[in-house]
Amino acid sequence: MVEKSMYDPIKNVNIHKEEPIILGIETSCDETAAAVIQGRKILSDEIASSASIQAKFGGVVPEIASRAHTDAVAAVVEAAVKNAGITYAEIDAVAVTYGAGLLGALLVGVSFAKAFAYALNKPLIAVNHIRGHLAAAYLDEPTLKPPFVTLLASGGHTAILHTKTFSEFEILGATMDDAAGEAFDKVARVLALQYPGGPNIERCAKEGTPNIPMPKMLKGGGGYNFSYSGLKTAVINYCHTKEQKGETYSRADVAASFQCAAVDVLVEKTVAAAKETGVDTVTVGGGVAANTYLRESLSKACKRSGLRLVMPQKRYCTDNAAMIASEGLTQFKLGNFAMMDLTAKASIPLHSTLETVQSKRANKSEGV
Ligand code: KG4
Ligand code: ZN
Repeated sequence: MVEKSMYDPIKNVNIHKEEPIILGIETSCDETAAAVIQGRKILSDEIASSASIQAKFGGVVPEIASRAHTDAVAAVVEAAVKNAGITYAEIDAVAVTYGAGLLGALLVGVSFAKAFAYALNKPLIAVNHIRGHLAAAYLDEPTLKPPFVTLLASGGHTAILHTKTFSEFEILGATMDDAAGEAFDKVARVLALQYPGGPNIERCAKEGTPNIPMPKMLKGGGGYNFSYSGLKTAVINYCHTKEQKGETYSRADVAASFQCAAVDVLVEKTVAAAKETGVDTVTVGGGVAANTYLRESLSKACKRSGLRLVMPQKRYCTDNAAMIASEGLTQFKLGNFAMMDLTAKASIPLHSTLETVQSKRANKSEGV
């Protein structure tokens, strides 16, 4: 247990500082990332990925990810600070992903961030990875202010949110089974495309035509909910039936047909949700938002409906640390700081508001 007298950066922190400098650290999956932002401006953004090693295994092997983070994290953070052109003393807070993700991988980032914050006597901020994905949009559009409707489409989550403030949102609909990214990854495996599946399906789909009938995907039904397991099964059945009959099929056509089915429903429901809630802005976040077909379809649909669309650059849709720093900034302004006994969590409900961190802070102010 750290003595209060030795580590107590929260007492003097100025949460009203106009443009604090936040160091973000992200190690929830296979990217070791660190970034520095000032306000919402990105000063540096470093990523070391173990994806090419993981590709040999067809997916992320947790132990390999943890080892790769351990090897890379110090150098990645050092590079982020150096390339930001700042000194360690100028950092106002250290924001780190504490969940959700691979436990061993998260622990590397959390342990490093704790040691780093402790050594520099800086406040520590615990960031929910998914909140980071949502905060990526603010990096691109620093003037952006809620309310808006947000499409979240990552490897673990697919949901449409009504973002009411920087820290409050209502879930309008979500996947009832697989996440969109998960479906891309599973279909990629069926088509013998390498990990990570999403970008490879996208590449393959470019050569094909979406001419294979796909299930209806709760289009026009199911409220703002999604179901991807039926689509995935339809693709598997199509390929297996062809193979059993000794018939050939075009992988590119399957990829294109799947991509259309998977994306069209996201676009349709996001725009419908924006219209129903009466907001004038749509934002997106998560790895699937890097998909060019999704970006183009959503752009066209928003334009048709007179909606403003704010999409993070592709690089900030997939895992990165700038988005973690961006969410860290929101938590900084709210005065939500973590204690030194922060630990990693493999899963955090989408709606979690960092109860543990906040309640510990409340205890602290009561002198516990
Ligand atoms: O948000 P993310 O980087 O990680 C989390 O799940 O938090 O999302 C990763 C997911 C993977 O399923 C990956 O296949 C998918 O995003 N993805 C894509 C594309 N790039 C990444 N899916 C479709 N098209 C892409 N270009
Ligand atoms: Zn992610």
